[in-house]
Amino acid sequence: MSQTARAFPSDFVWGAATAAYQVEGAATEDGRGESIWDRFSATPGNVANGDTGAVACDTYHRYAEDIRLMRTLGIGAFRLSVAWPRILPEGRGPVNRAGLDFYDRLVDDLLANGLDPYVTLYHWDLPQALEENGGWPVRDTVDAFTEYTEVVVARLGDRVRHWITQNEPWVISWLGYGLGVHAPGRTSDSDALAAGHHILLAHGRAAEVLRREAPDSEVGIAVDLVPMYPFSDTEADIEAAHREDGFRNRWFLDAVLGRGYPEDMLERYAEILPPIADGDLETIAAPLDFLGINYYTRNVVRAGVGEVATEGAEHTDMGWEVYPDGLRDLLVRLHAEYELPDLHITENGAAFPDSRNNGTVPDPRRIAYLGGHLDAVASAIADGVPVRGYFLWSLLDNFEWAFGYSRRFGIVYVDFETLERVPKDSFAWYRDFIAAQAGVQT
Ligand code: FCB
Repeated sequence: MSQTARAFPSDFVWGAATAAYQVEGAATEDGRGESIWDRFSATPGNVANGDTGAVACDTYHRYAEDIRLMRTLGIGAFRLSVAWPRILPEGRGPVNRAGLDFYDRLVDDLLANGLDPYVTLYHWDLPQALEENGGWPVRDTVDAFTEYTEVVVARLGDRVRHWITQNEPWVISWLGYGLGVHAPGRTSDSDALAAGHHILLAHGRAAEVLRREAPDSEVGIAVDLVPMYPFSDTEADIEAAHREDGFRNRWFLDAVLGRGYPEDMLERYAEILPPIADGDLETIAAPLDFLGINYYTRNVVRAGVGEVATEGAEHTDMGWEVYPDGLRDLLVRLHAEYELPDLHITENGAAFPDSRNNGTVPDPRRIAYLGGHLDAVASAIADGVPVRGYFLWSLLDNFEWAFGYSRRFGIVYVDFETLERVPKDSFAWYRDFIAAQAGVQT
């Protein structure tokens, strides 16, 4: 047993993650409505190769096979998301029973196979009808999300014990509404800020609904954090990194963890802030059972330049630097600077250009990436950081948003022509790693 294998507590949660639009397919089946990602990906020029999530991994029909794979893997938890337009095709109003039935069956099947579902309520597939009404930049969308949460929890709340309200508020708001590279493709800083505020408010409101309707369950949010390192120790570089940290990390962390929005950033955004109503910050700071952290990389920041590449460093197929120490540093810093609830690593993983080789898929670089990051988690735990679980992104190769099917994050290879699943070497590696935790011989 390696050092790392000994470092995880016996009740540590081992999992894998996916999201509805990236894997389900069946985009027009059983009454599902249109989402902003259907619309965005069908619009030429938005997604690499014109790919869409119309079929994806076809998990909608093949989830039983994926659950069998997860059993072989030996994980105890599976992170999935519910597609809002399957439940409320128009975003609000009439409920689509068939959509609820699908998640009902999926949850039952997971539980029957010893897999604890961690359910994300929003992983980016806003009903298009709500976008027509203004999308996340309008406050009405918060009410719509609250109603949607009520409908989902009424059906699944007797069995689902772990909820994640929102996935990656920074990405939703800035990539979707500020930079326009994600759906719905809008490009306005003030819209991005309004979207971000409403997403956090929606998180707080959903947390209230979940507390009331499913009091025995645990509630969290998944934030995307990118630690910022100054390029040098000059004051200018340190200041630039701090500002980027405010934009990317502190804005969301401070609000969710009860500090309100950071002063330096409020000053910076003063001209373009959305209205923040009395009570909003209290709602956003709803007590959490856990904070989910999605970590992939770090950024190095240079004054006057912005992000700079680290010479000689390894990068994934996304162009992201492989930097496991960033995860350790981040966890230790959060523990030192905030009053934290329990933490889960709700996403971590890497894309590499994998290919099939006589029925196998060798992916040594992914194995090294995962090993390095699990070491980083183990080391943070040894320093007292309360990390309770790890969800590998992703179980399957899937629709990687604006990159379509051109980026493979899975530990299971998916042939997007035949939809065949082929476990990669990293699948066996993760299986053995988890088994070693339990002292099981493989
Ligand atoms: C995260 C997303 C997830 C996946 C990974 C690679 O930002 O939450 O859906 O695309 O990146």
